[in-house]
Amino acid sequence: MQTHQLFPLTIAQDSISVSEQDRKVMAHAINEMRKSNPQQSKNHAWTGDTQGQEFLFSQPLFTSIAAKIAAKVKDYLETLSINSQQLDLYYQRSWATFTQGEQNIALHNHAQSNISFAYYLVKPQNSGGIMFSGKDLQNEITKDIFNRDKYERSLIRETNAHNVKQVIIDAPQDAIIIFPSKASHATMPNKSGKTRISLSGDISIMLKDSNGFEHLMPNFKHWTALD
Ligand SMILES: [Fe+2]
Repeated sequence: MQTHQLFPLTIAQDSISVSEQDRKVMAHAINEMRKSNPQQSKNHAWTGDTQGQEFLFSQPLFTSIAAKIAAKVKDYLETLSINSQQLDLYYQRSWATFTQGEQNIALHNHAQSNISFAYYLVKPQNSGGIMFSGKDLQNEITKDIFNRDKYERSLIRETNAHNVKQVIIDAPQDAIIIFPSKASHATMPNKSGKTRISLSGDISIMLKDSNGFEHLMPNFKHWTALD
């Protein structure tokens, strides 16, 4: 039988190279941030965005990597056939995550943003991939039919492209994962016994010229403050 796979969620994976010296310097700076703003939770990874460190790319040390990531984000837009030349793109937030032990990050999305990414600055083997979780699954012909317990009871024979609800992408060091900010995602527990460091960010898009457009965000340069 022929099938047509419709209405995709497109997660991009690419690679960015940094020198080992730059990697070391950035990792050291992130570790210092973590030490000066320690996370209280044992199981949850240190995430700079919740620890007063949500504008990482405004620091000169991260200017170069921010530019490399920007190029990949524009490639992602082109993959979606969106003409990035008509858009202004802004890092609205950018932060590091620092994962030790078996820490993870629970399922969430970035509802205030358009495009999000994770770049793996330090990523030992088995230190935990990123998991995407589908919602409003088109093929879910009755609620929760593709949940784990249905496999355990042999109602569902196997996971495949037609019924998958969650996918883990375990990309190597230097990989960047780019995705729509509204996509639900989590990180898997770090099983490596080593530290994993990622750089994450949220990107807002707005039209350079909103003339004739109704639904996209007009450029904030034309906004008027209420007071
Ligand atoms: Fe996230």
